[in-house]
Amino acid sequence: MTSKLILPMPGFEGLIPPDPGAEADLEVTRFGDGELRVRLHGTVAGDDCAIVGSVSPPGDSLLGLLLAAETLKAHGAHRITAVLPYLAYARSDIPDPGGVQSIGVLGRALEGAGIDEVLTVDVHSPRDAMLFPIPLVSLSPAGALAEVIASEWAVEQVIAPDKGAFGRARELATALGLDDPLSASQLSGTRSVLVVDDIVDTGRTLVECCTALAERDVEEIIISVTHPVFAGLETQKLLSLPVRALYTTDTILEVHRERPYLTRIVSVVPLLRQALAEGTALIR
Ligand code: R5P
Repeated sequence: MTSKLILPMPGFEGLIPPDPGAEADLEVTRFGDGELRVRLHGTVAGDDCAIVGSVSPPGDSLLGLLLAAETLKAHGAHRITAVLPYLAYARSDIPDPGGVQSIGVLGRALEGAGIDEVLTVDVHSPRDAMLFPIPLVSLSPAGALAEVIASEWAVEQVIAPDKGAFGRARELATALGLDDPLSASQLSGTRSVLVVDDIVDTGRTLVECCTALAERDVEEIIISVTHPVFAGLETQKLLSLPVRALYTTDTILEVHRERPYLTRIVSVVPLLRQALAEGTALIR
């Protein structure tokens, strides 16, 4: 039983379905040229609503979300939570000479459309919440991933592929009862390691890290990466390295994209459902 009216965007009904008997839903259609049109069926006046969707490319998912939020607010919705299991644009969070911190721009656009808060999973960095003008709640998948990994592998050491990954690598290490993470260059004489990162996009970061580990005679590499963007084919190179499994989650719908055969999915839906049902410090 959730305390909010769940309104999934197209494609997200399978991830978090609306409550049975819900009296409101969003219909998304297109004009002939592909422009989006969002309509509300039913009533949301006075309700707290949760729109489940995405702001990721390719396509116009962000615009659809903005239209949906404006539609709900125009029809009297009280508070709107955007449930974005993978928060795209979160990697643009440091000052960029000649550019902008895109995550701040995204946050202002969501706020402008009437969204009161965002619920996500494993946001790229703590800086993202600071650049967001509305509350941004990020759930950690470390417990869920650690439970499955611990039941299948006897990992000795957790590895962070870059500086930004140390925080989430430490969470996995703690959940597995292991020492603090190391970088690949600090390792020697270890047989089985777990590499932890937030995103696999082109796969370059993981391939570089796993190559360095193989050069240090690691026999068994397990990977845990939360968001399976899998935009490039670089990950296929993992198959020629001693990588035994890649654990990821269902924060991105297109998990059918090109990925190595050794991928295993751990669902974050129970985490999201629990947060929606119980509320968090920021989600009232
Ligand atoms: C970088 O800061 C991120 O945490 C990921 O390591 C990175 O985005 C992964 O991208 P790719 O798979 O293209 O190396």
